[in-house]
Amino acid sequence: MSKPGFSRFIFSIVMLMAISGCFGIGVNWGTMTTNQLPPEKVVKMLQRNGFLKLKLFEYDQSILEALLGSKMEVMLAVPNYMLRKMSGDPRYAAAWVDANVTSYIFEGGVNIKYVAVGNEPFLQSYNSTYAPLVLPAVRNVYAALCRAGLNSMIKVTVPFNADVYNSPTTNPVPSAGDFRPEVRDAVIEIIHFLYINDSPFTVNIYPFLSLSSNDYFPVDFAFFDGTNKPVKDGMLVYTNVFDANFDTLVAALSKAGYSDMDIIVGEIGWPTDGNKNANTENAQKFNQGLLKHLMTGDGTPARKGNIDFYMFSLVDENTKSVEPGSFERHWGIFEYDGKPKYNLDLSGRGADKRPVPVEEVEYLPKRWCVVNPGLTYADDLADNIDYACSMSDCTALGFGSSCNHLSLKGNASYAFNMYYQINNQNSWDCDFSGLAIVSEDDPSDGSCLFPVMIARGRSIARYGGVVDSVLRYGWGYLVVLLML
Ligand SMILES: *[C@@H]1O[C@H](CO)[C@@H](O)[C@H](O)[C@H]1NC(C)=O
Ligand SMILES: *[C@@H]1O[C@H](CO)[C@@H](O)[C@H](O)[C@H]1NC(C)=O
Ligand SMILES: *[C@@H]1O[C@H](CO)[C@@H](O)[C@H](O)[C@H]1NC(C)=O
Repeated sequence: MSKPGFSRFIFSIVMLMAISGCFGIGVNWGTMTTNQLPPEKVVKMLQRNGFLKLKLFEYDQSILEALLGSKMEVMLAVPNYMLRKMSGDPRYAAAWVDANVTSYIFEGGVNIKYVAVGNEPFLQSYNSTYAPLVLPAVRNVYAALCRAGLNSMIKVTVPFNADVYNSPTTNPVPSAGDFRPEVRDAVIEIIHFLYINDSPFTVNIYPFLSLSSNDYFPVDFAFFDGTNKPVKDGMLVYTNVFDANFDTLVAALSKAGYSDMDIIVGEIGWPTDGNKNANTENAQKFNQGLLKHLMTGDGTPARKGNIDFYMFSLVDENTKSVEPGSFERHWGIFEYDGKPKYNLDLSGRGADKRPVPVEEVEYLPKRWCVVNPGLTYADDLADNIDYACSMSDCTALGFGSSCNHLSLKGNASYAFNMYYQINNQNSWDCDFSGLAIVSEDDPSDGSCLFPVMIARGRSIARYGGVVDSVLRYGWGYLVVLLML
């Protein structure tokens, strides 16, 4: 082959891979919010930014409908609370697959590529609530996909937290990695099932947690800009914790006999508020470094090649549990209203580029609920703040967060406003025993934003799965269903 011919050949391969989505960035879209952005507008934004893959934590009819005809590759998860039924009842798994997966697989439908069974079901803090349910649920979902003739097109996987494996403290290098003894057998059984069915291992990796949970963790090792204390592992050199963590998994898989198992990074990202290490500078630095690193397709020291990954996450979620920390509600690359928080070149080249926002977002009127400026003293102020916060989201007020500098009255205004906004600015939700008034002056203070909430997305009529399928496929569907 002549040289120009060869380079054209390589170029075609690269183009083909780019078009087929090999290099596409994925993103997690969690929907634990009070006021959801309209799914059609979000999908448009995803496409304009070049996201090619989407991970959803639960079936959501309005989102799946917005994805119809979009070609976006989708990983759809079965939430943990369904694992018990999913594992115990094959017919439940089959009904779920029929209504929530199969009914979207048609020309112009949704490109569902994976069903994720559970979400970090082996997490240490769950003790063993879900662990024994995972494999039976995986089998039932797989069987349902087989019955629908979809098992070669749609793969089953399980998103694991990286806490299922580690390296011994006596030899903390990636090549010494193995699954934790308490979960080793159970995890390997699942891996075996996935492996023989040509399905990937999915892992969520969190350098932010490594840093925030350990004051002695070397800060620069959390990012991708190099470090003067690299970790040497035989011939391999590690300059960032992402590579080290990923290769610990590679070693654990190899030890178990699955050295060529496909790995997907199911969640990776950095939050912007709710912790002293969570801010837009660090999030920008981490995510841009990650993109630059992964988009080269070079892989990690121990595993060369392209890594499939889903960024965590798309937008902030103001109703997520804050048990792990206040930062849980601030992982979005985009704000609650679909505006990008910081520059991020999603091509991975690292240019000073801002992602495209969600367009034509509708907001509630420009008004805020604030503490009455004439207030001098009120012994029930603290109780009212607590109440407002317990019913809304005050994670920006805490230590190390964007609104931690506010005065007591500032805190009160912040809390009252959050409560008022998520209750769609009902006038009766800005009273607080007469301590609060509605104001048209924006009380935002430096980095501390007092949001005006977005109008709730157009509510799409919700049919039951069956009614929906009947509408889509005609009455024959119902006849088939009744025969089962
Ligand atoms: C589809 O998924 C939703 C959300 O997880 C669930 O509530 C519903 O029961 C599922 N449909 C079936 C038929 O299982
Ligand atoms: C897990 O076990 C610990 C210790 O036995 C206990 O304190 C904790 O409440 C348990 N957590 C759950 C979610 O059951
Ligand atoms: C405001 O609220 C935060 C979070 O509860 C608290 O840490 C801070 O001390 C409060 N500020 C004042 C001045 O009371």
